[in-house]
Amino acid sequence: MSATAASDLLRAGHRKIEEHLDPFLHALLHLTPERVGEIRRHFEEIRRLAGPHFEKEEGVFYPRLRPQHPELLAQMDNEHETTRLTERYLGELLASLPEAPGERDLTELHRLGIEFHDAVQTHIVAEEDYLLELADQVLSESEQQVLRARMQEVSSAVRR
Ligand SMILES: [Fe+2]
Ligand SMILES: [Fe+2]
Repeated sequence: MSATAASDLLRAGHRKIEEHLDPFLHALLHLTPERVGEIRRHFEEIRRLAGPHFEKEEGVFYPRLRPQHPELLAQMDNEHETTRLTERYLGELLASLPEAPGERDLTELHRLGIEFHDAVQTHIVAEEDYLLELADQVLSESEQQVLRARMQEVSSAVRR
């Protein structure tokens, strides 16, 4: 196992989320009523992946680094909150869209969709550039392995 096992688990989670984030953005940038289903599918996948990912971070990874780096962790918490809020609004909008969405529905979907995309993408970049970078410097190899194992327990608990 690598010396950055826990950070790598989170990086791998980000790549999975991005597999849906990129086509989600593409569909939003070329938005037509026919593309709403595609947007919905990618949104649901991002939501399904991000939920347990955030739980691993908030339950295991963040608490380990928080005492030494409270400001950075407060920033990560804020970004999670913004992401969850935007996800909720977008989820509500998608749930209430009529079968044949009009111009105003599409404008709103575009606005909230871009907001959600940007919140997730910005957070992934901040996490990798600051938090994981830092973790790779301060955590020992064995600590990384323990954190990885504990995060994997969180994800199996989520599936139960
Ligand atoms: Fe993350
Ligand atoms: Fe995060």
